[in-house]
Amino acid sequence: MEIGIDKIGFYAPHYYVDMVKLAEARGIDPDKFTIGIGQDEMALAPVTQDAVTLAANAALQVLDEVDKEKIDLVLFGTESGIDHSKSAAVYIHHLLGLNPYARSIELKQACYSATAGIQMAKGHIALNPKSKVLVIGSDIARYGLATPGESTQGAGAVAMVISKDPKLLAIENESTYFTNDIMDFWRPLYSDTACVDGKFSNEQYIHFFNTVWEKYKEQTGRSLEDFAALCYHVPYTKMGWKALRTILEEGTEACGERLRAHYETSIQYNRKVGNIYTGSLYLSLLSLLEKNDSLKGGDRIGLYSYGSGAVGEFFTGILQHGYQQHLYVNQHEELFKARQEVSVEEYEEIFADTLPADGSTTSLDAANDPAAVYLSGVEDHKRIYVNRNN
Ligand code: CAA
Repeated sequence: MEIGIDKIGFYAPHYYVDMVKLAEARGIDPDKFTIGIGQDEMALAPVTQDAVTLAANAALQVLDEVDKEKIDLVLFGTESGIDHSKSAAVYIHHLLGLNPYARSIELKQACYSATAGIQMAKGHIALNPKSKVLVIGSDIARYGLATPGESTQGAGAVAMVISKDPKLLAIENESTYFTNDIMDFWRPLYSDTACVDGKFSNEQYIHFFNTVWEKYKEQTGRSLEDFAALCYHVPYTKMGWKALRTILEEGTEACGERLRAHYETSIQYNRKVGNIYTGSLYLSLLSLLEKNDSLKGGDRIGLYSYGSGAVGEFFTGILQHGYQQHLYVNQHEELFKARQEVSVEEYEEIFADTLPADGSTTSLDAANDPAAVYLSGVEDHKRIYVNRNN
């Protein structure tokens, strides 16, 4: 039985910052951000969007009534959780109107957890072929104003329906994964911005990639030539390229050219959104699927997932025939077109506009937030969500 990604939805908040203007405001050469880091724009979440609303907005795009009935497992990957106890999965289970006979769980391991979700979903469907699983990666990446990490922030969510006979990508069984306890990036419970050892995180991302890639080749006997394209976790678009270029010499020149060209296609959306942590690899996959003009059914795609702290995994999928008919290209074009640029000053204000840390009652003005699902305030320490479609 083939199991894999049947649908992918994506949502990013409606504000973005131009990276050239951000660089200028910080007294930095804009080429550092657009070439050295590889980012053009950075999505910015207003206070009315959090990991729950971003996820619900991404999932609403793709779920139909059959999905809502058949989904009996919701796996919500995030490192921007809104509660130490209750899972974000339970909130979206309600907001999306899913079948009540479902398990709903939040998963955490930095940017890796949506990948764990996909692998767990695969096991669940192998035992329960009629069920479908909703896997989410949803985050708001915050390092702080004028910090070295600032140019690698972002916000957004990817929602995937995992099922048997998937219409997009069948996930193959072979995969290699690796865990090592390191402190390259983390966020203590008391902080709403990440701590990071930037250079070390870059080194470890590549080290983990080389480790799982070598083990994958050893286990499967496959080589670079077996891949039509490779997708990477994209904290910033230069990062995946730094990892990819370490292995390009293993293949022919033509193979290298192909993988490089597909890598460029796979980062088009990420260049405009920035880091969305758990969803970044899947935003890159989505960009590849929606923007390429040569990949066909039967092609093998490799995926490298990395979550600081750290866990890395290399796994693969086979593109399904006719996958192009099951994408939401127009909606994503509309989403990008409808976004509103904010000045650096406005960005700084929006960045600082956070919920009261003590949970006091707050009512938020969502008049400028076009999203279907938004946060309207906090009452009795409870977040109040609204779905405009209901
Ligand atoms: N023109 C063109 N390029 C320029 C330039 C210019 N004028 N000025 C600098 N550059 C280049 C540099 O040469 C460098 O390129 P290389 O990396 O290829 O050498 C690049 O721009 C970045 O410059 P610096 O290394 O000097 O940048 P920095 O020290 O200010 O910060 C960063 C870069 C470490 C990535 C920082 O933004 C950061 O800490 N980000 C958060 C951590 C992160 O994203 N880590 C990635 C791996 S961990 C992970 O993947 C998990 C996750 O999601 C967080």
